[in-house]
Amino acid sequence: KFHMAKDKETKSEYIDKNLMIGSRMTVEEKVIGVQNGKIIFLESPEMEEELRASFHFNKDEMQVLDEREFFCPGFIDTHVHASQYCNCGLALDLPLLDWLRKYTIPTEAKYKDLEFAKDVYSACLDRSLRNGTTTAQYFCTIHRESSNVLVDLAIDKGQRVFVGKVATDQNSADYYIEETKTSIEETEKFVQDILSKQVNPLVNPVVTPRFAPSCSMELLTNLGRIAKTYDVSIQTHCSETLPECQWVKELFPGFEDYIDVYDKAGLLTAKTTLAHGIYLSEREMSRITETQTKVSHCPNSNCSLMSGLCDVRKLESLGVVVGLGTDVSGGYSISMLDAMRCSITVSNIIASAKDGGYVPFNYQDALRLATISGAEVLGISDKVGNFEVGKDFDALRVNLSPKAGNIDIFGYETMEELVQKFIFLGDDRNIREVYVAGRRVIKKF
Ligand code: GUN
Ligand code: ZN
Repeated sequence: KFHMAKDKETKSEYIDKNLMIGSRMTVEEKVIGVQNGKIIFLESPEMEEELRASFHFNKDEMQVLDEREFFCPGFIDTHVHASQYCNCGLALDLPLLDWLRKYTIPTEAKYKDLEFAKDVYSACLDRSLRNGTTTAQYFCTIHRESSNVLVDLAIDKGQRVFVGKVATDQNSADYYIEETKTSIEETEKFVQDILSKQVNPLVNPVVTPRFAPSCSMELLTNLGRIAKTYDVSIQTHCSETLPECQWVKELFPGFEDYIDVYDKAGLLTAKTTLAHGIYLSEREMSRITETQTKVSHCPNSNCSLMSGLCDVRKLESLGVVVGLGTDVSGGYSISMLDAMRCSITVSNIIASAKDGGYVPFNYQDALRLATISGAEVLGISDKVGNFEVGKDFDALRVNLSPKAGNIDIFGYETMEELVQKFIFLGDDRNIREVYVAGRRVIKKF
């Protein structure tokens, strides 16, 4: 396949002496070549003839983007509960711990039923892909078999996925809890199930303790051991609300703090994603930095569940890699465009409460979080996240023409302005095609 694109390439770079991480996105007219799912060249349009000859592309294998179109790197949702997709937009009247008890646990218990799981997981994957999420890191439920249903559907539909069967052996409802031994065995079996499907490199198992309050130390330690044995990723929640942090103090009295619980269990690794991290102390942040643990910022959820405001600039200034998550259904939208906008709003609110000197996120920062930073969180920045030659072609063909029917452009000066309109006003109608590793998984028109 060979595409000629009127745009592209996303770069992140360090801009300022105070160690603030900024980003500058370049939008350029380029010729991009894709073969066997990988980007094999990215050059200026004058090189087109020469490239076609040397890479043996025929003219009919070449495609030119329309007016008001560009390719954008696929979005990476680093934290989303596929099992909560059916609750999206409902039940957001309670703070986290009450919300979990009243709405979330009863919903997750339904996934014993494989038919129910298939219906919701299928809809969730479709909606996530249509919104331009080429990679997602999912929480399922405690049920191994239905978690495997999500894996098989993802393989079929073509999304790049990181999938976790949730582990929980305490402080949950009696109808939604596991024996410690069972939880350990089922997690290990799930990891083995997915690794045995390794013919498909787009699917990755994730060891998934729900969060410290719902796991015994014995379970946490064994989960750390499993992740190490199989060299796989870990995901959990951390420091999302103040009552939760207080509860962890009471449940784990012998530990320095919340992070110390995960640390002693061997759960802080370069392949670990902690969702939220709003109330981390300086000590906790420095342990996160030392262990290269990653953070998923979920601004819609943090506002919807009244959890708090995460200072991503601060985490990044300490060298923590932060990506974006929708955290459905704590977050009510599965769209990463929504997550990007929420991240800007949260950052603006933080800036407004400071006495100057705080640079809030702009749309380019948000796009960086949703793409290359997300790839770094998941340890796949050698494969995806931007359009560097050698990476997989995970891309969105974005269309802001009247055909998409939702955005009034009123003339634009630069492609950057077009990208900005997309970030602030776009929705799934503007995502005309979606590619994962070169496979076109969505085509709208
Ligand atoms: N903490 C523990 N479980 C959950 C969950 O399902 N959602 C969120 N947002 N936080 C959690
Ligand atoms: Zn979550």
